[in-house]
Amino acid sequence: MKKTFYITTPIYYPSDKLHIGHTYCTVAADAMARYKRLRGYDVIFLTGTDEHGQKIEQKADEAGLTPQEFVDRIVEGERGVKDLWNLMEISYDRFIRTTDDYHVGAIQKIFRKMYEKGDIYKGAYRGKYCTPCESFWTESQLKDGCCPDCGRPVIDAEEEAYFFRLSAYADRVRKLLTETDFLEPRSRVNEMVNNFIDPGLEDLCVSRTSFRWGVPVDFDPGHVVYVWIDALFNYTTALGFLNERYPDSDYEKFWPADVHFVGKEIVRFHSIIWPAMLMSMEMPLPKKVFGHGWLLLDGGRMAKSKGNVVDPYPLAERYSADALRYFLLRDFPFGTDGNFSNELLIARINSDLANDLGNLLSRTTAMADKYFGGKLPAEQASGEEDRELVALAKALPEAYAAWMEQYAFQNALAEVFALISRANKYIDQSAPWKLAKDPAKQPRLGRVLYNLAEVLRVCTVLLQPFMPVVSEKIFAQLGVSEDLKTWDSTAFGALDMQAELHKGENIFPRIDPEKELAELEKLLPPATQPAVPEPEHEAQIGIDQFMETELRTAQVIACEPVPRAKKLLKLQVDLGYEKRQIVSGIAKFYTPEQLIGKKVVIVANLAPATLCGVKSEGMLLASGEEQVRVIFLDDQTPNGERVR
Ligand code: ME8
Repeated sequence: MKKTFYITTPIYYPSDKLHIGHTYCTVAADAMARYKRLRGYDVIFLTGTDEHGQKIEQKADEAGLTPQEFVDRIVEGERGVKDLWNLMEISYDRFIRTTDDYHVGAIQKIFRKMYEKGDIYKGAYRGKYCTPCESFWTESQLKDGCCPDCGRPVIDAEEEAYFFRLSAYADRVRKLLTETDFLEPRSRVNEMVNNFIDPGLEDLCVSRTSFRWGVPVDFDPGHVVYVWIDALFNYTTALGFLNERYPDSDYEKFWPADVHFVGKEIVRFHSIIWPAMLMSMEMPLPKKVFGHGWLLLDGGRMAKSKGNVVDPYPLAERYSADALRYFLLRDFPFGTDGNFSNELLIARINSDLANDLGNLLSRTTAMADKYFGGKLPAEQASGEEDRELVALAKALPEAYAAWMEQYAFQNALAEVFALISRANKYIDQSAPWKLAKDPAKQPRLGRVLYNLAEVLRVCTVLLQPFMPVVSEKIFAQLGVSEDLKTWDSTAFGALDMQAELHKGENIFPRIDPEKELAELEKLLPPATQPAVPEPEHEAQIGIDQFMETELRTAQVIACEPVPRAKKLLKLQVDLGYEKRQIVSGIAKFYTPEQLIGKKVVIVANLAPATLCGVKSEGMLLASGEEQVRVIFLDDQTPNGERVR
């Protein structure tokens, strides 16, 4: 029986059109799915949409549609989610919508099962309640202590709700995270343990009564199931778990998933809540959760709610899905954040695709046409220059596979393109145009062109998961048959000696950066920053004077309010070499939960002071006055580094 591989993306909220961030994760999962198919696996690649919840209900209301009409339009409508995945050549095997009947029914059964087991129980949800809006809010959602929707005061209130006994699974989840490779990259493990598990896992509220757009709890219809429970179990209902839409045998065959790709902001749901619920259901756990980084725009996370999103449509339409897919997976290491820009996109297309790959193909096929009428001669002679090129080509598939197995797409592609560059250099070294002048050197010329064609073929086999459309075009120009597009054929030398190649269309025309950037500029979201009036300035200082301020990086490890001092928060920060207590006047702007775990910059040589009776040994850097913003650093930043 074939080996199986089951890979998933998050199911996205159809609250708005999807953007390049969603495309990034989906393209990565697609490349992986295609790679595994190439390796002979029986693959299920699942994606879909997470369609319930208050936010969707509100959005639909604003649009004057029912929630179902609203999500149908975004998912199935013109230039909607499915159209985008078609445009991007996404080869998903299944697309789940959480409003699909089979899923809804299964979620009700799952909820009931956990309830009957005693892992879901009825309790009271306490929070801040806005009476006119009939809405519960958490402390951190409030705006200046008031309802974020209407600005009116809120009251402490409680309502009946169901809770999941998350606390009961804390130890098992901790073990899973710390003692296995369940969560990757490993750097995310500490974040989960320090920020969520160590402070104590509380039971999770898993039902809502304040809105209707969700899966009703079938034994208590006033309640709808919390959207994350509904969403997470999609990974199993799409395999037929507790439903009739797909056969049970799919669940038997493909569960547990080999990997869930998710953005780092939802790692918590996938690495704590998800395994705990599966443990409760006594189901096997997925083999891996991979928390990928964010695409940033001007250093900030691209997000629908911030309105600073890049639309993948025009980019794929202008430059091809292949080029966009290649750029996303070649420029950004999958595990960490990266800054998106049109400049990078165009530079990457020009350097790798037009110059390196495109040129290699057009030079090779043009020479084959010119010197041999397309068909390489039977008699060929090897030469000194071949050795290094052939050795590199022979080593490539294994090196590539090793990176792919680690989801290191960037490195896998770098390996392929190192060989492509080497082949361009090989043309210059072996100078076919000189060989062509000497009839005695025809066999040598034949071999040079053979080696080039074969390098191109091997590289193209490996590029198929990334650039499925252009790969076929390259194969066609090289005259490659189906059996030589497979993983097993990547051994150098499989191509027929008398291969027949012909120059075809230019696969990646060079882009004029200046002209294109100007065009793309028009498509980018307009700058939302208001004009800033000229501020009052300080007197100029020298670098020495600046260096007297010892700024260092630190991590907030604990944080709590200061009793009877409304504005103050008391923070414990870790400098690596020592721990400090800092009191900061930011209570109006941040809750302790928003700070714990964050990397910040502190003034480390500030004389200690006492604020409202609490000792403070340093100061946190922040900007703004009316709205204070703490300066947060990348969460990979080591503690105690000097900032200058
Ligand atoms: O969270 N950079 O849906 P969502 C990279 N419905 N990836 C990004 C990104 C960015 N700037 N922005 C979004 C949800 N993504 C839930 C998931 S799963 C059971 C439920 C990608 O529409 C990234 O993969 O907010 C992120 O996790 C996902 O889109 C969030 O999509």
